[in-house]
Amino acid sequence: MAVVLAKSAGFCFGVDRAVEAVYRVLEEEEKKEPALRLPIYTYGPIVHNERIVEELEERGVRVLKSLKELTELAEGIVVIRAHGVGKEIYETLEQRGLKIVDSSCPFVRKIQKLVAEHTKNGESVIVMGDPEHPEVQGILGWGEGDVIALKGVEEVEALPDGNGKNVFIVAQTTFHIDKFKVVLETFKKKGYHTSVINTICNATFERQSEARELAGKSDAMVVIGGSSSSNTKKLYEICKAICPNTQLIQTVKDLKFNSDEAIRNVGITAGASTPKEIIEEVLTYVRNEF
Ligand code: F3S
Repeated sequence: MAVVLAKSAGFCFGVDRAVEAVYRVLEEEEKKEPALRLPIYTYGPIVHNERIVEELEERGVRVLKSLKELTELAEGIVVIRAHGVGKEIYETLEQRGLKIVDSSCPFVRKIQKLVAEHTKNGESVIVMGDPEHPEVQGILGWGEGDVIALKGVEEVEALPDGNGKNVFIVAQTTFHIDKFKVVLETFKKKGYHTSVINTICNATFERQSEARELAGKSDAMVVIGGSSSSNTKKLYEICKAICPNTQLIQTVKDLKFNSDEAIRNVGITAGASTPKEIIEEVLTYVRNEF
């Protein structure tokens, strides 16, 4: 059996940078006398990966789940993860005198700035992405006027006719590139004048195109990633559409191959928040066991 691991599998630049930042802060604090150490928090889990979050928790890093929790802190260091946060969070951190380690991905910061600028100019801004996703909520938190998030084509279709209305459109960094193209066509069909900045991150694009290519050459595909990682889910959808024998797993324990199937080529890829060790475990297992 031939096993191919996608080159783009695993941590993207933004997640890598954020995870490293937490470990760096942790190491700096651990060098101090215990009495002088500041408590360390991350605003939301630093990565969609239970193993890393648990390991950090064991070393004392607490995950803050809400703005309310933040407002109860008297001191500490708060690391902002790659997804970024809304303006209100920065303001609260500053008001409370908490130390900020900003690990928002620069690509997400760019979208936040675009939304701030264009809403300030009085434009109607559309963010294509899941309104429930923290990245999108953070982006919306920079809007200073008319801004909404729309999840997909159906939501665009449900909008009233544009009648020549101007809209400025950006996308969540992990938005599906093909769906984005359909979205833009739909806006035009509905009579909107669009000005668009494609803010889909290259890491996602490369990971998705490589997965598509690999799925086309494989009898079975394995996508590794956390259950709450949206980019992993999208990767799974892309692979499954091309290679029906695609499975989504979190760790090597979830892997299931039907021994009756004639599998000659296995492709492996992983979402942006999957650590190298987990990918290597799966790779070694598939190589050795099949
Ligand atoms: Fe940033 Fe792209 Fe990763 S936006 S967090 S480098 S997927």
